[in-house]
Amino acid sequence: MANRQNWLANELHAIGTAGLLRGRRVVTRLPCGRCRIGDRELIDFSQNDYLGLANDPQIVQAAQQTLELAGAGAGASPLITGRSPAYATLEAKITEFKKSEAAILFPTGFAANLGTLSALIDPGDIVFCDRLNHASLIDGCRLSRAKLRVYHHDKLERLDRHLEKSNDYPRRWIITDTVFSMDGHLAPLVELCNLADKHDAILVVDEAHATGLLGENGRGAAELLGVEKRIDVSIGTLSKAIGGLGGFVAGSQPLVEYLWNTARTQIYSTALPPAICSAMVVAFDIVHSEPERRQHVLTLTQRLQSSLIKSRFHVPQPIQAAIVPVILNDPRAALDLAERLELEGFAVGAIRPPTVPQGTSRLRITLSAAHTIEDVDQLVQTLCHLASR
Ligand SMILES: Cc1ncc(COP(=O)(O)O)c(C=O)c1O
Repeated sequence: MANRQNWLANELHAIGTAGLLRGRRVVTRLPCGRCRIGDRELIDFSQNDYLGLANDPQIVQAAQQTLELAGAGAGASPLITGRSPAYATLEAKITEFKKSEAAILFPTGFAANLGTLSALIDPGDIVFCDRLNHASLIDGCRLSRAKLRVYHHDKLERLDRHLEKSNDYPRRWIITDTVFSMDGHLAPLVELCNLADKHDAILVVDEAHATGLLGENGRGAAELLGVEKRIDVSIGTLSKAIGGLGGFVAGSQPLVEYLWNTARTQIYSTALPPAICSAMVVAFDIVHSEPERRQHVLTLTQRLQSSLIKSRFHVPQPIQAAIVPVILNDPRAALDLAERLELEGFAVGAIRPPTVPQGTSRLRITLSAAHTIEDVDQLVQTLCHLASR
């Protein structure tokens, strides 16, 4: 047994030599955009809890009440006996929030992307997938076994040409994140809708980093850009701005019915626990009743971005969500700066290949409505101080 696993040690050594070994720690999340690692309390600029909902007392209380009544787990997959009253209420809440005909839940956003793409796309189809798309979208496209083409959203004339040549395929698909998770900028949704119309392609968007945050009502980037009605399949997650766990697809009744019958990550996985579902229903109520949360976090993002640019950090523009990358190129430089920030009291993610392309390692700074202006200014001051050493 031991000998048969020697190759693992060699592989790990090679990963470590390239500066790409992934470490893990125990982190306790605290209110007010803080976390504890070991005995240190840090200002947490590495989470995706953009509206500060994960620790909200109303949400915690909703979860506690349902936990008392319904227990910890759903006990079964949704089609067997796992679809609890709280689960059905959450489906209805998402349908209302997204103004769609129907919605279906998944265990996570990853499962929503993987299950939806592999269910909808046939091996004979052709899929155009943005090169910055999240791993779950890429894996969903691969799992479909369709012809896969990767496009750059800043070179849409090439996508146009490739779509033009794809008339022989039974269906053409365009798949994109609406906010690119490691870059913070938006996909060109209006132009993609135009291309989808022109070439009769089906447009699937993942609103993971926009749900709850962008658009007047927080419905996402498609709301912000006025193209909601032109999107065929809208996927989202509850694990970021909504502050909890779970994925969803919102769309037409036939789409949702089809996914109930074919999406394997939903059919063959235990349903979301009732307590999480109740918590998420209250989270959507807060998204609706407290729009000031998204205004605050977007103001903080603008402030951080312009301060960093003034201080000559390499921050790609434009940033339109609550993610601000600072490009450092070398993976060790990114790790080193993140470690030094931690010693100064800030948790910031260091992102390296394969999550981002070679040569673009970065700090990924994420903002939350739980942060204050002072938190952001302190971070900038500390970064400037560390960079000058
Ligand atoms: C763009 C994007 N889509 C999907 C996911 C997966 O969501 P979840 O964490 O809910 O599985 C992520 C998570 O990091 C993401 O960044």
